[in-house]
Amino acid sequence: MSSAIPATLAIDGGTPVRDSMLSFSPPVLGDEEIASVIETLRSGWLTSGPRTAELEERFAARVGTGHAIATSSCTAALHLAMVAAGLGEGDEVITTSFTWPATTNAVLHAGATPVFADVDADTLNIDPDGVRALVGPRTRAVLPVHFAGGPCDMDALCAIAREHSLLVIEDAAHAVEATVGDRKVGSIGDFTCFSLYATKSLAGGEGGVVTTRSEQAAEQLRLLRSQGITRDPWRRQLSRSLGHYDVTVPGFKANLADLQAAVALPKFDRLDDMHRRRTALVERYDRGLEGLGGIDPIGRSPFGRHAHHLYVVRIDPDAAGGDRDRYAAALTAENIATGLHFLPVHTLTWYRENLEAVSLPATEAAGETVLSLPLGGAHTEQDVDDVLAALRKLHAAFTR
Ligand SMILES: Cc1ncc(COP(=O)(O)O)c(C=O)c1O
Repeated sequence: MSSAIPATLAIDGGTPVRDSMLSFSPPVLGDEEIASVIETLRSGWLTSGPRTAELEERFAARVGTGHAIATSSCTAALHLAMVAAGLGEGDEVITTSFTWPATTNAVLHAGATPVFADVDADTLNIDPDGVRALVGPRTRAVLPVHFAGGPCDMDALCAIAREHSLLVIEDAAHAVEATVGDRKVGSIGDFTCFSLYATKSLAGGEGGVVTTRSEQAAEQLRLLRSQGITRDPWRRQLSRSLGHYDVTVPGFKANLADLQAAVALPKFDRLDDMHRRRTALVERYDRGLEGLGGIDPIGRSPFGRHAHHLYVVRIDPDAAGGDRDRYAAALTAENIATGLHFLPVHTLTWYRENLEAVSLPATEAAGETVLSLPLGGAHTEQDVDDVLAALRKLHAAFTR
């Protein structure tokens, strides 16, 4: 890594700030994960079994709710939650367009219709006033996303839901460590869906978890993730029962394998340490960005603890001398990977062509200006300093 900052940008043929690419969000994998996977391989039980059950127990205990049901992804968790809640044809779900397409696709796969409310221009979380204005006779649920790990205004959203008898289904793919006041995300809505995708803090590679207080909904979710079959292979082996089974609902194939649970499980003990680590890196970014006009972190939610899953800045092209895409391309040339969270769903082809047209000024403005900088438990202070050095280099060149 070079310490001197060359004047010529790497995109123009200069020397990059780093010799090798800084990954956007490398996984935190230690000896514990390797040992856990080997132990699972040696156990001879690869699919859903004791490790998945252990992950479910630990997850429910951590967030302080009755039930955690592991699934193949957060997308599947969202989909199954909506099916378990009885949502379908003719039902409307008020949600945000400022999300990964998974959120919207899950609504569509359940047969329901997504209705987009705009986001708060500061935090980029769904605006409760926008939700309230959209509630109509077909509205059945509100589906907020805790963007980047910042908790939504759940008190306001739950109040709207209570007033209109709506379900609250939360997309907490970014928000394992988040709280609302002193309540953990996962213990608030009717269903809360988490991701174990490779970049998430409880990464299993792929996977998801849905939490609920309802015993009945939990039972339905367990059926729905396994074809609706009333026999669980692992429990059947334990009980040495006959292989008879029945189907009480045509379910899906959306279970989590023990091999994936084995990768995620050791991370429970490190979650709080890793969160502290990311928080320190966030503070380092915040300090380093002061003085770089036009490059500002998005607002932090005042409603509870931020999970700090993503570090998102907004780039004002006038003040920063270049737009988001110009910065992203030049950062890549400097060997700094970036992320784009998100392009508004309603602007993407299928949704534009098939859903009712909608104007969401704050969502659309964010979609053009946001850029996510590398942030993960495996990153070092030096990594953040390299990103800041690259940003300073670009800013100086673009505003010259
Ligand atoms: C906000 C949001 N919701 C849902 C998902 C889907 O998660 P998964 O990949 O586990 O299905 C993602 C993926 O990163 C996400 O960012």
